[in-house]
Amino acid sequence: MAKKTEESDISELKIPGHVAIIMDGNGRWAKKRLLPRNMGHRAGAKTMEDICEDAWDLGIKYLTLYAFSTENWKRSEEEVTGIMNLLRKYLVDCVERSAKNNMRVRIIGDRTALDEDIQEKIAHLEEVSKIYTGLNLTIAINYGGRDELRRAVTAMAEEAAKGELAPGDVTEQYISSKLDTRELPDPDLLIRTSGELRTSNFLIWQLAYTEFYFTDCLWPDFNKDELIKAIRYYNGRDRRYGGV
Ligand code: FPP
Repeated sequence: MAKKTEESDISELKIPGHVAIIMDGNGRWAKKRLLPRNMGHRAGAKTMEDICEDAWDLGIKYLTLYAFSTENWKRSEEEVTGIMNLLRKYLVDCVERSAKNNMRVRIIGDRTALDEDIQEKIAHLEEVSKIYTGLNLTIAINYGGRDELRRAVTAMAEEAAKGELAPGDVTEQYISSKLDTRELPDPDLLIRTSGELRTSNFLIWQLAYTEFYFTDCLWPDFNKDELIKAIRYYNGRDRRYGGV
């Protein structure tokens, strides 16, 4: 009998429109191989590239990846520099890849704290990929959910101080419209790799009704089969959004 692969029967699966991923486990992946941590990040960056194509193949329209958090600056200077250099390369390579894959790329997070050349690379990639209508890839860099809310509340306080915003105007929709994710639907499925069971300040407002899937798989080992496993899990959930 033919081996049943993860890819069999996927046509019957309901595909989540927006998948968000906390890509964790690069350091442990490297450690297991006696490699420096930055080699784990390099492998993780390659997985980021591949998973975009896999997600689109499966019919996912929005993919949001947590690449660097507001807390990640606490890592060693060597590690932070290594990740920033990977990011530089990723942003440059992504210009060609977005054209090849018809992929629109957005960056969320406070980019003002990033080096000037990185900010320029981000602006260029966002601009040139605006015309693409395939996968909407969002990468969170220097992103923290609390920091995103703080920035949104500051912007609203400035509007209020100018007399442009009344207390009654602050609806949930209005708050959503002030977040970095204003152009994105809320995620349907959150995946976290490497066995940790927490959300680590990722999309804290947007995950209110999202299904969570945790896997022991380390991020560099994550692939299309693992993504299908997560989607199968999602298919077994009954989303009631607070109803009965
Ligand atoms: C966590 O692994 C991973 C991150 C810090 C974020 C993800 C980063 C990448 C995929 C590489 C960077 C790529 C770009 C394009 C910026 P960890 O180091 O926390 O792993 P550990 O928990 O096993 O130590």
